[in-house]
Amino acid sequence: MNAPLPAEVLKQHLIDPEICIRCNTCEETCPIKAITHDSNNYVVDPEICNGCMACVPPCPTGAIDNWRLMVRAEAYGVQEQLGWEELPGEKALPESAAAAPVGDDDAAAAAEPVAPAPSAAPGATVPPWSAAHPYVNLYTHKAPMTATVVGNYRVTGADTESDIHHIVLDFGDLPFPVLEGQSIGILPPGVDAQGRAHHARQYSLASPRDGERAGYNNLSLTVKRVTEDHAGAAAHGVCSNYLCDLAKNDKVQVIGPFGHTFLMPNHPRANLIMICTGTGSAPMRAMTERYRRRIETGENGKLLLFFGARTERELPYFGPLMKLPRDFIDINLALSREAGQPKRYVQDLIRDRAGAVRELLADRNTCIYVCGLKGMEVGVLDALREVTLQAGEDWSILHDALRREGRLHFETY
Ligand code: A2P
Repeated sequence: MNAPLPAEVLKQHLIDPEICIRCNTCEETCPIKAITHDSNNYVVDPEICNGCMACVPPCPTGAIDNWRLMVRAEAYGVQEQLGWEELPGEKALPESAAAAPVGDDDAAAAAEPVAPAPSAAPGATVPPWSAAHPYVNLYTHKAPMTATVVGNYRVTGADTESDIHHIVLDFGDLPFPVLEGQSIGILPPGVDAQGRAHHARQYSLASPRDGERAGYNNLSLTVKRVTEDHAGAAAHGVCSNYLCDLAKNDKVQVIGPFGHTFLMPNHPRANLIMICTGTGSAPMRAMTERYRRRIETGENGKLLLFFGARTERELPYFGPLMKLPRDFIDINLALSREAGQPKRYVQDLIRDRAGAVRELLADRNTCIYVCGLKGMEVGVLDALREVTLQAGEDWSILHDALRREGRLHFETY
């Protein structure tokens, strides 16, 4: 048993700025808004944080899981943390306060929740039970990996607004083990308006664990050239434009891999329900390709895909996707701006296919993956709730089970 901390000692929650990839997951997850950020750092407000730990499991890098025993009155403030380039070391507590545990093990134990973590997140914070072991943070800001561009081509119609590229990076002789559903960070060259090196941008892998080309030490990304912000105002995406303009043989600084929960099940006859929009198709392509490469083994479960895009020509990978055998994958395309057709979102198609969705939901070998626009989260959850209720079942019980068993995963932006 650990002695409780004296009142004047705070176990301060900190984020490591050298590992953090600024993906915003922690800020979105925090149920009490203790996490904030500026253009430099993500930080935890010691006045608000209650150590509930809700933000810790979803962090793809583990940068969130840093703690310092501090005299409460000397806790690092938000402004100070925003200016950090690295975490400060441990400080010795004054003798009066040091009766509290200060060793590593004790510090970890003292990080136990002081309040139960509310289940605010819509998805699981654990991987499916049979997921393979993921490696994370093998290459960091301080020691990135240099990859070579071996392919870069557009996967949307040339005459459309959606300029989405399929980019293949090769790692040569260096190990870069990845799993479907993981992401990597790209360090774009140059500095931001404050003269600081650009922070890393995170991209999901579009290729399976054994490479974009099976047996090769390479992987692929699906990158949309950003020319406007969410509100439609002109905005130049630093990293997406950099990546989309790369030529063959260019070198790219890569960190990662990241992610230990949005992973596919590894056991035979596991079913996947994949729900995505636009570039959110990257992990779905990776998982589908993993299944496609082992069709012959007879191990595969069912694949049910809901894929949203403005038009067919703006749907990345439309051609190759439509060539996949119908008995291998059940494809449902939700097109929102196709001339002469009603506007459809992925959640509309989930409702249309209620029977197929329910059948898979009833099977504990089914995992659900949702990736793409943030806005679809609510719509997808509502649709899943509806199809469950139609069968007379209680969605809240099923939803809890899906989260607990690592069978419902969201990655939205
Ligand atoms: P919309 O035509 O209404 O923008 P994008 O091309 O911007 O990446 O979007 C991919 C697809 O996701 C588009 O068809 C877009 O439709 C659709 N979409 C936009 N908002 C939502 C939402 N809240 N739920 C589901 N799909 C959405």
